[in-house]
Amino acid sequence: MIILAIESSCDETSIAVLKNGKLLSNVVHTQIKTHEKFGGVVPEIASREHVSLITLVLDKAIKDANIKLEDIDYIAVTEGPGLVGSLLVGINVASTLAFCLDKPLIGVNHMAGHIYANWLENDIKFPLLCLVISGGHTELVLMEDHLNFKVLGETLDDAVGEAYDKVARVINIGYPGGPVVDKFAHLGKEHYKLPKVYLNKNEYNFSFSGLKSAVINLAHNLKQRNEEVDAYDLCYAFQNSVTDVLVDKTINAMNEYNVKNILLAGGVAANQGLREKFKEKNIEIIYPSIKYCTDNAAMIAMCAYYQVLNNIGKRDISMNANPSLDL
Ligand code: KG4
Ligand code: ZN
Repeated sequence: MIILAIESSCDETSIAVLKNGKLLSNVVHTQIKTHEKFGGVVPEIASREHVSLITLVLDKAIKDANIKLEDIDYIAVTEGPGLVGSLLVGINVASTLAFCLDKPLIGVNHMAGHIYANWLENDIKFPLLCLVISGGHTELVLMEDHLNFKVLGETLDDAVGEAYDKVARVINIGYPGGPVVDKFAHLGKEHYKLPKVYLNKNEYNFSFSGLKSAVINLAHNLKQRNEEVDAYDLCYAFQNSVTDVLVDKTINAMNEYNVKNILLAGGVAANQGLREKFKEKNIEIIYPSIKYCTDNAAMIAMCAYYQVLNNIGKRDISMNANPSLDL
């Protein structure tokens, strides 16, 4: 079974080919350079760049996989959540291919894709818990079987990645913020005090806007007093607050649900501080390689593979984008 999958929900244009669950190719073009100067993704520019690059990405994905277009059995595409204009570029290419090749079209949830990135390189057992942490989402998900997602908790305000990006912007250390803050945190020491927001200790929802505001206020107050912000120490304090909450809530859920595996998924799963904190507590976790943590089509193809096996998500060529699709 050969699946061609397309991902274009935000600022990566990506196409992958998967044969019987094994990855044959995964081409990712990232627009980070384009959006860097704006300090965030500009949706209209993102859609245009997807349009101008997607056929080149398609050619390379087919060539790298060493297949012909006619060999494809299924076309899969991210249908949401994401930026509507960006999603529509991928969906148009996917539905055109499905129509011309007369092959079935499969709609994939981007967040489910992030979770399934874990299946690209690991043997995974149910029931499992997955901490889904990206630029737009923060969710703790229980799965008792394939494609069966029970959201135990989610953020009530900002997503983790969003908070990382904002902190990096406030202290002016680059975009996207996550990887730089992670690096700086490892160079910092205990110095600043920042809140750890647990909400109710025995619930699984999260809140990061209070922590984000605390960072903004601290930077602002230091500036007013003409004092330098120690960027390393601030990143240390911020990352420590975020990862303590994420790890503690995940461990609470692990104890309540008696799971066999704990997975990380989404761009923030690349965070070294988070992985180290789980290790310190002797909790074994599974996470994708860094290249499969951030947006890519390999994860969409893997999710589509299980959707095909379970007959889930068939679409026709009138398929539309769903920018706020839930898991
Ligand atoms: O999953 P993703 O590529 O896109 C979305 O679906 O949102 O996640 C992007 C997010 C950004 O906010 C970025 O700052 C964050 O993932 N990120 C990280 C790290 N690498 C990427 N956050 C913390 N630590 C990292 N090492
Ligand atoms: Zn993503």
